Amino acid sequence: MNQVAEFDPQAFKRTARDQWQLAATGWNAHTPAVRQWLRAATDAMLGMAGVASGARVLDVAAGAGDQTLDIAARVGPRGSVLATDFSPAILEFARENAERAGHRNVETKVADGERLEVGEAQFDAAVCRLGLMFFPDPLAGLREMRRALKPGGGICTMVFSTPQANPCVATLMASALEHAVLPPQDPYRPGGLLSLGKPGLIDELFRAAGLRDVATTKIDAPFGLPSARAYLEFVRASASPIQQILARLEPAKREAAWAAMEARLARFNTAAGWEGPNELLLTAARR
Ligand SMILES: C[S@@+](CC[C@H](N)C(=O)[O-])C[C@H]1O[C@@H](n2cnc3c(N)ncnc32)[C@H](O)[C@@H]1O
Repeated sequence: MNQVAEFDPQAFKRTARDQWQLAATGWNAHTPAVRQWLRAATDAMLGMAGVASGARVLDVAAGAGDQTLDIAARVGPRGSVLATDFSPAILEFARENAERAGHRNVETKVADGERLEVGEAQFDAAVCRLGLMFFPDPLAGLREMRRALKPGGGICTMVFSTPQANPCVATLMASALEHAVLPPQDPYRPGGLLSLGKPGLIDELFRAAGLRDVATTKIDAPFGLPSARAYLEFVRASASPIQQILARLEPAKREAAWAAMEARLARFNTAAGWEGPNELLLTAARR
């Protein structure tokens, strides 16, 4: 079976959007864990993009808006943030969360990140936290972000790096493929969790999108949780290519796959619970 030849970006996006629609409640419920996991990396991302008091900021693939709230606080009442995502359900959580936190400077817009349909040169800064790697055409996404930026405006994206440095993601993918009786896949295939982790790739895409002063920083972001099971609950509550692979299995086989993953991930047990290593790439540039 030639999987590369069969890849249909539009069908992939429709499936992914449907899954994020279903996963919205679960992803939102895991916001406290995600917040703690990505705390330092998020602060670094916002700093590298130049998110400062009074700025107008574009937040692409904003999800339930955890980083949106940080942006809203940073830019203050004189600034604003537009949170976009292709899942209306998850974006509704972003809106509610911003309202509950008392931020009046947050707007939301349902939009495919590859086709934002926002005006040219409207934003001082643009960010995308753990979203761009899911785009079948990340170059289109970066071109859209560049177009939305004012000249000199800053951009910073956060994606996973290599399979070696993200062994939990690599383990989940390998287990899912084995249980679905599928051959190993290129970890860097479009739309996958690690699709932009190939060394040098994201810098090339930033440059191809016409961005300048491109620089990528690696950042360790270990994910600490009470147990491997808690990590899998988080994975199951989000939508990822792992679910897309397992969806084709009958329920008993699917549960067997999750149990096998849990056993493999137990190697990251610590005296305090469980800690999965992750390495993220923060890529910053300017229009
Ligand atoms: C892992 S979540 C990250 C959400 C949020 N940025 C965060 O860090 O908490 C990935 C998000 O990307 C969104 N997404 C995936 N592909 C997208 C696309 N092509 N256009 C817009 N949003 C997309 C999903 O709906 C989901 O909300």
